[in-house]
Amino acid sequence: MLKEQEPYPAVFLDRDGTIIEDNGYLKQKSQVLFYPGVFDVLRELQKNFKLFIVSNQSGISKGFITVDDVKMIHQYTKETLLKEGIRIEGFYFCPHAKEDACFCIKPKPYFVFKAAAAYNIDLTRSFFIGDHPQDVEVADFVLGMKGIYLLTGHGRKHRHQVKPGAEIADNLQAALPMMEKFRSKPENRAAFEKLLQASRIIRQGGIVSFPTETVYGLGADAFNEKACTRIFEIKDRPSFDPLIVHISNKDQISLLTDYQNEKMTRLIERFWPGPLTLIVPKKPRVSDLVTAGLPNVGIRMPAHSLALSFLKLCACPVAAPSANPFGYLSPTTAAHVEQQLGGKVDLILDGGACAVGIESTIIQFKGDDIILLRPGGIPIEEIESITGKLIHHEKNTLKVESPGQLKYHYSPRTKIKIMDNPSAYRNQDAKVGYLFFSEKPQDLYTEHYEILSEKGDLAEASHNLFSSLHKLDDLGLDLILAQKVPSRGLGRGIMNRLNKAAGISEEESI
Ligand code: TXA
Ligand code: MG
Repeated sequence: MLKEQEPYPAVFLDRDGTIIEDNGYLKQKSQVLFYPGVFDVLRELQKNFKLFIVSNQSGISKGFITVDDVKMIHQYTKETLLKEGIRIEGFYFCPHAKEDACFCIKPKPYFVFKAAAAYNIDLTRSFFIGDHPQDVEVADFVLGMKGIYLLTGHGRKHRHQVKPGAEIADNLQAALPMMEKFRSKPENRAAFEKLLQASRIIRQGGIVSFPTETVYGLGADAFNEKACTRIFEIKDRPSFDPLIVHISNKDQISLLTDYQNEKMTRLIERFWPGPLTLIVPKKPRVSDLVTAGLPNVGIRMPAHSLALSFLKLCACPVAAPSANPFGYLSPTTAAHVEQQLGGKVDLILDGGACAVGIESTIIQFKGDDIILLRPGGIPIEEIESITGKLIHHEKNTLKVESPGQLKYHYSPRTKIKIMDNPSAYRNQDAKVGYLFFSEKPQDLYTEHYEILSEKGDLAEASHNLFSSLHKLDDLGLDLILAQKVPSRGLGRGIMNRLNKAAGISEEESI
């Protein structure tokens, strides 16, 4: 019997800025200038790896070059390398521009999988080498390969955008010994398969729950109305409550809005990816269903690496509320989602416990006003250092603009009361549970309690808020007594959630 051929490891090389000089859109052979020493490295590499070249050719979409120009350049590159004794198995290129809503990532997963299937490639032992941070990130987080970032081409300019932990080399020669050091982990492959499955579900109009740094979201293709309708059905959410649209790349903003504002740009530079949602006038193509008939759309780029990889693979903006039944506590683990909505969603991606633990801060741009609609994962003080004093919506007479401002929200099933000193409350007949900020008083004897942060740290308290409330809610108590936390920094978001859980409006609580 024939032994099945072992799959090969491969190296996918970005063309411009990695092998040849980045000279814009190439139309002539004379523009193909190989970096010095590249032939030697490729000869060395091909002893252990199959070689592929990938590139973006957005010039095709923009009309600067044709597909035939690109093919001619590739043919010339292939022949030149062959003369040097180097065999390139395949050339892959993406002809789109950003305006086509293609992010033209290299290594585009589609190409890599095509190559993997056609040439029997083992991606877990394969590498991508290029000079764009995003491409290296896709290799690392999405494809289960190892990405190596080169400081050639665009490399130096974008170095500050490279994720911590990424492998960086001065040039192709320097990457060679690094590749010896790495062997990608097989478990990456299983994780990747799941991400790929999740993105396929979204593209086919399904619903996926995915982790973000704040809480788990319930996602659908933002441009697919039928899929977004299912979100409302699954959550039992009233249609007047709009959905936040999640993106993986700042270029996607232009798919959703034309609005521009210098302070908005500064907020994005400072806080994205991260727990900040911006509400801005929407483009007509954004469905009224997503914005609940409002003329504005909420946009957020989450900071969770799994979320970003998932969103990148979806290649469309993803509308997602928190993955809980309407009005109930937000989920901060995959188990919370499973418990609340399991069976109703097509897939739950498990990314562990959410680091921030409370939802994003929501800011609206309206005329010259910048309005705080919901305190959340970024302290208001930090935002105000860029925007100046925010208008606090709740204290205003403006009509309700964000249904998250409904009086009851984020609630457990159990009744909840907020107090300065919950242990002073005595009621022999009621089964009571306690939520303390940093410590349980010594003289209170109960096993039904949670402490948000023994260190009294507000970030840790936010991280633990919903999971503590979930735990207390599962005890079948008559009442939860929650202690007030300091109303500064992230404490504002925590108090906002506690007040809503208790059905106290901000005006009453201030
Ligand atoms: O951290 C978060 O923001 C999480 C994760 C999943 O990203 N999402 C989240 O979504 O909390 P949701 O739907 O549970 O809460 C979003 C709030 C809602 O209160 C909604 O009314 C408000 O944002 N919102 C969304 N779009 C809006 C819009 N166009 N205008 C005003 N408010 C909007
Ligand atoms: Mg929610």
